[in-house]
Amino acid sequence: MTELGRYRSSAELPRGMAFVSGKGGSGKTLIAAEVASILSRYHEVCLVDADVGTAGLSYYLGLKYVRNIRKGLSDLLLRPSPEPPAAYVQPIIGRSARSDFFESVSLLPLGDHRRITRALRDNHERPNFAFRISSVVEQLMVENPLVVVDCRGGIDDESIAVCQAVDDIFLIVESDTTSFQASRHLVDTLSDLDLVHKLRGFIINKVYSNPEAVIRAGAGDFGSQFLVAIPFDFAATRSFLIGDLPGQGSAFAVHVQEALSKAYPEVVPRPTGQVWSEKDYDGLDTVAPESSRGGILLSVLLVTLATVMLLSEVFGTGLGLLQLRLGLTAMVLLGVAAGAEPSRRAVGWLIGRYLKAFSPRRADRTAHR
Ligand SMILES: Nc1ncnc2c1ncn2[C@@H]1O[C@H](COP(=O)(O)OP(=O)(O)O)[C@@H](O)[C@H]1O
Ligand SMILES: [Mg+2]
Repeated sequence: MTELGRYRSSAELPRGMAFVSGKGGSGKTLIAAEVASILSRYHEVCLVDADVGTAGLSYYLGLKYVRNIRKGLSDLLLRPSPEPPAAYVQPIIGRSARSDFFESVSLLPLGDHRRITRALRDNHERPNFAFRISSVVEQLMVENPLVVVDCRGGIDDESIAVCQAVDDIFLIVESDTTSFQASRHLVDTLSDLDLVHKLRGFIINKVYSNPEAVIRAGAGDFGSQFLVAIPFDFAATRSFLIGDLPGQGSAFAVHVQEALSKAYPEVVPRPTGQVWSEKDYDGLDTVAPESSRGGILLSVLLVTLATVMLLSEVFGTGLGLLQLRLGLTAMVLLGVAAGAEPSRRAVGWLIGRYLKAFSPRRADRTAHR
């Protein structure tokens, strides 16, 4: 049998992986499920919901893929003489477009969430919990080729216990300052506990603008390599809402595979879909409000000018040569300005300034009513 906590060989996957983050809502659950789906091409995967705070993974997969999420980790943590963890691991059922996931992934749900919360309120239970979670994960790592653990957000004893048990830790970060600072604190704690060497890398999630600065700062502060920046993917959120996995070719799935291929280059190939470069995120800024505002105004002006010229040509006295030249030049200039991002933004910014200048007066008027 493989020695616990050791890789089978340098070219193989670890036995246990944990997904952690400095704060909740960063995407650990969605990423852990996607990782399980991708890695199930190589090994049977046992997914573990160790988020004793929200049981996010159990509720997510419980919608469609698991028969009974009321049995699980809670039974192993709360019963005096528990059965082995394997007794609570459930197969993934139901039909899924992701047949890889359907065939070789199983789940240890959190179980009775409320009983756990109640026990956690009792401070005497807390250290026991951490110890028991650690030994459950260790046992599962002996019995399963690959264990993927979805942790609670933040720095809590239970997530630290999971980190102690697994081989590799993945840090999920969002690009905002709060998430970044919370991640730094988490890395500091891992460092204090001599666990930072287990960090396999950090993933920046829900990215909607150029992540260059976050990547640079993270490479300095997170004690591990940058793996990928996953773009904000509406389709992925929609899948999450209905308890489905994001599609195989979705931006989300492609970027999670990119992260795995960087972490385990000898096992996981690069994805076939497009991975966004840092510069690609600049293109996303075209949806910035000032840009769309500027684009709308310039287009309206262009259409109005064209309509006026056409109407006066058809119904009026006709345009003189000078008017025609001026009109056509203005149309070309408006067309170029509407098509170019910097001018759209500049015009949008001016509109914004104009609206702001007037809004206090509007507010005054409302206040005096
Ligand atoms: N890359 C992404 N693009 C869009 N939405 C995402 C992305 N990653 C996660 N989400 C959404 O963010 C929310 C929180 O994700 P979740 O996996 O539950 O985070 P955590 O487990 O860290 O609390 C969910 O609604 C999920 O669909
Ligand atoms: Mg979660």
